[in-house]
Amino acid sequence: MKMERRRSFPAVALPLLAVWALVMVVPCFAGDPYAYFDWDVSFITAAPLGVKQQVIGINGQFPGPVVNVTTNWNVVVNVLNDLDEPLLITWNGIQQRKNSWQDGVLGTNCPIPSGWNWTYQFQVKDQIGSFFYFPSTGFQRAAGGYGGVIVNNRDVIAVPFDKPHGDITLFVGDWYNKDYKARSLNPALRKALDDGKDLGMPDGVLMNGKGPYRYNKTLVPDGIDYETIHVHPGNTSLLFCWQLRSITSLTVLELGAGKTYRFRVHNVGISTSLNFRIQNHNMLLVETEGSYTVQQNYTNLDIHVGQSYSFLVTMDQNASSDYYIVASARFVNESRWSRVTGVAILHYSNSKGKASGPLPDPPNDFYDKSFSMNQARSIRWNLSAGAARPNPQGSFRYGSINVSQVYVLKNKPPAVIDGKRRATLNGISYSPPETPPRLADEYKLKGVYTLDFPSRPLKGAPKIGRSLIDGTYRGFMEIIFQNNDTKMQTYHMDGYAFFVVGMDYGEWTEESRGTYNKGDGVARCSTQVFPGAWTAILVSLDNVGIWNVRAQNLDSWYLGQEVYVRVVNPENTNKTELPIPDNALYCGRLQKYQNEQTPHHKTASSASATYRTSGLLLLMLLLVGIA
Ligand SMILES: *[C@@H]1O[C@H](CO)[C@@H](O)[C@H](O)[C@H]1NC(C)=O
Ligand SMILES: *[C@@H]1O[C@H](CO)[C@@H](O)[C@H](O)[C@H]1NC(C)=O
Ligand SMILES: *[C@@H]1O[C@H](CO)[C@@H](O)[C@H](O)[C@H]1NC(C)=O
Ligand SMILES: *[C@@H]1O[C@H](CO)[C@@H](O)[C@H](O)[C@H]1NC(C)=O
Ligand SMILES: *[C@@H]1O[C@H](CO)[C@@H](O)[C@H](O)[C@H]1NC(C)=O
Ligand SMILES: *[C@@H]1O[C@H](CO)[C@@H](O)[C@H](O)[C@H]1NC(C)=O
Ligand SMILES: *[C@@H]1O[C@H](CO)[C@@H](O)[C@H](O)[C@H]1NC(C)=O
Ligand SMILES: *[C@@H]1O[C@H](CO)[C@@H](O)[C@H](O)[C@H]1NC(C)=O
Ligand SMILES: *[C@@H]1O[C@H](CO)[C@@H](O)[C@H](O)[C@H]1NC(C)=O
Ligand SMILES: *[C@@H]1O[C@H](CO)[C@@H](O)[C@H](O)[C@H]1NC(C)=O
Ligand SMILES: *[C@@H]1O[C@H](CO)[C@@H](O)[C@H](O)[C@H]1NC(C)=O
Repeated sequence: MKMERRRSFPAVALPLLAVWALVMVVPCFAGDPYAYFDWDVSFITAAPLGVKQQVIGINGQFPGPVVNVTTNWNVVVNVLNDLDEPLLITWNGIQQRKNSWQDGVLGTNCPIPSGWNWTYQFQVKDQIGSFFYFPSTGFQRAAGGYGGVIVNNRDVIAVPFDKPHGDITLFVGDWYNKDYKARSLNPALRKALDDGKDLGMPDGVLMNGKGPYRYNKTLVPDGIDYETIHVHPGNTSLLFCWQLRSITSLTVLELGAGKTYRFRVHNVGISTSLNFRIQNHNMLLVETEGSYTVQQNYTNLDIHVGQSYSFLVTMDQNASSDYYIVASARFVNESRWSRVTGVAILHYSNSKGKASGPLPDPPNDFYDKSFSMNQARSIRWNLSAGAARPNPQGSFRYGSINVSQVYVLKNKPPAVIDGKRRATLNGISYSPPETPPRLADEYKLKGVYTLDFPSRPLKGAPKIGRSLIDGTYRGFMEIIFQNNDTKMQTYHMDGYAFFVVGMDYGEWTEESRGTYNKGDGVARCSTQVFPGAWTAILVSLDNVGIWNVRAQNLDSWYLGQEVYVRVVNPENTNKTELPIPDNALYCGRLQKYQNEQTPHHKTASSASATYRTSGLLLLMLLLVGIA
């Protein structure tokens, strides 16, 4: 065991070292380092937009801590559900190779009951990139509970840009002052949806859990805490500035070479697409959801719900003042939605004053439907960059693989089904069975779900269902998302990265394939689908499990706009999927297998004392064992 590994342990490592040592004995995980986390998920009180409310914190933090690991590391997260309702954490974009048991969605896991803890253990196998985690059930993401996941390149694989001076994670997302569930007199978001209503306009946009900087005294009330990103300018430029200031400021700007920072930006909101920009600064797009992109400068980029991007930003400005970092609502009437704008501050260490004046302009394309789509199409894969493995990303030539299954998944505006307002894909609104389908398979239970999800939209009245897509193991699937709603949607697939090969307005037809990008479409885990338009993806079904395909927009998802793809290896082998974890939770028809856990809501220090004792005990046992 190399010493250097120890340095990566978070503070909780000491009592857990024993567990770590024990787990190292399990053969299938051996060799790769472990990172341990101990999370207490609980309500904390915050007032990001000036209105006190309950948000979901992790160890008292909102947003939660960043999981910073390297390709192939094993991640162990002991989650204590200190909320008053069930909880599951999902790892958006982490592929959980052969291991849908750890995916943290209702198709694979029973929710962690209130007061219980459950330990996730998974390997970030063959992945790099910027992702995030969030609570996956009951609309909880609207209340927070999210945080970043960074998977770094292994040392032996070059990153296609110089090491940045700093690495900044930024969560942007729309936000409501109403609590996500009914409490006291607050009309809750969840109840609004249950009652068949729309959520209405959000109250604002948060950046890293904080409200907007007061750039406009009418729009932003006094006393709102805002996010400040502290950066240093380059020192060469400082030197030049100092020497040349008296000559001409133009020369200074041209010679300016600042320090470069990586910004990992995630839209963790409910349903608002956001235009992201940093005043006076170019944003060099370098990575999205686990793929290095062709590097291009953008002055602004649309980030849709559930999407993640990495930009390199060079601090090459003169710091005559601070700069605005802006995330403004997209495809809406700006004058009505101006309140729904997130504003943080980029503060150079040599800044000469506060940011002031108007925000940098958003794209002026209210009547131009093509700007944003062209921008999305411009995001391409850097075929020659290495990623999780030393070989180039483009060595998997997806364009020359024959498609074995085609699914057109069409959404429609929400409709009333059985008296409830629901959202559908292909006319089916998914209703999660009490027993997770993956667990049902393990116990050969029949009748939990059906395997007959239609490959084309159903004709006739929409219905509620628990129908799964029957994916062919090792097949190559083409999925066309057809957005028949009037709102922007993002679709996400667990378990995989897929290739985004095309998008256009209108109805997809077989001829649309002629427009596909067969060379450098980017591999990612979520894609936007414009209203009245389609997006086509290709995915290689090489990961056994049951995988969630969902609307990232929280309201559409909550109302049933999701499906699962079931990928089973017909060969009877235990090599393509890990065995069910020992700590699996049981519910629904398998409830009888569940051993009760004594609820142990954390009560200040007593809980951590327990952890420590049990940790030491394990360590002692281990030492005795070794001796
Ligand atoms: C993540 O950890 C690596 C060391 O493994 C460190 O170099 C890097 O700065 C960390 N990144 C963040 C954002 O903390
Ligand atoms: C709950 O936490 C304890 C203490 O860390 C651990 O021993 C136990 O395995 C956890 N339970 C589950 C189901 O993960
Ligand atoms: C693609 O990656 C290669 C290899 O790391 C790098 O040298 C090159 O600059 C990148 N190209 C673009 C256009 O980003
Ligand atoms: C602040 O916002 C209001 C409402 O949008 C606008 O009328 C006003 O001009 C803005 N004030 C400044 C100083 O930009
Ligand atoms: C340049 O930056 C480094 C650290 O980033 C600092 O130690 C050094 O003093 C700076 N040099 C000048 C001339 O400002
Ligand atoms: C991006 O913009 C920066 C200036 O902000 C410039 O130095 C750099 O060359 C540009 N890169 C590309 C690939 O256009
Ligand atoms: C700094 O840059 C801003 C914007 O480019 C410009 O308006 C201003 O005059 C510059 N100030 C100095 C001191 O060079
Ligand atoms: C935006 O809303 C304002 C105020 O409600 C209205 O006057 C204006 O016509 C709207 N603009 C567009 C492009 O719909
Ligand atoms: C794809 O299908 C075509 C026509 O059916 C066939 O000729 C070709 O060999 C197939 N390619 C691969 C890689 O299987
Ligand atoms: C929805 O589908 C219908 C029938 O195909 C079509 O006429 C209509 O234009 C579509 N609407 C949108 C917004 O895509
Ligand atoms: C996998 O299956 C083989 C033979 O079927 C068996 O010997 C082995 O113990 C199994 N491994 C696990 C981890 O279950």
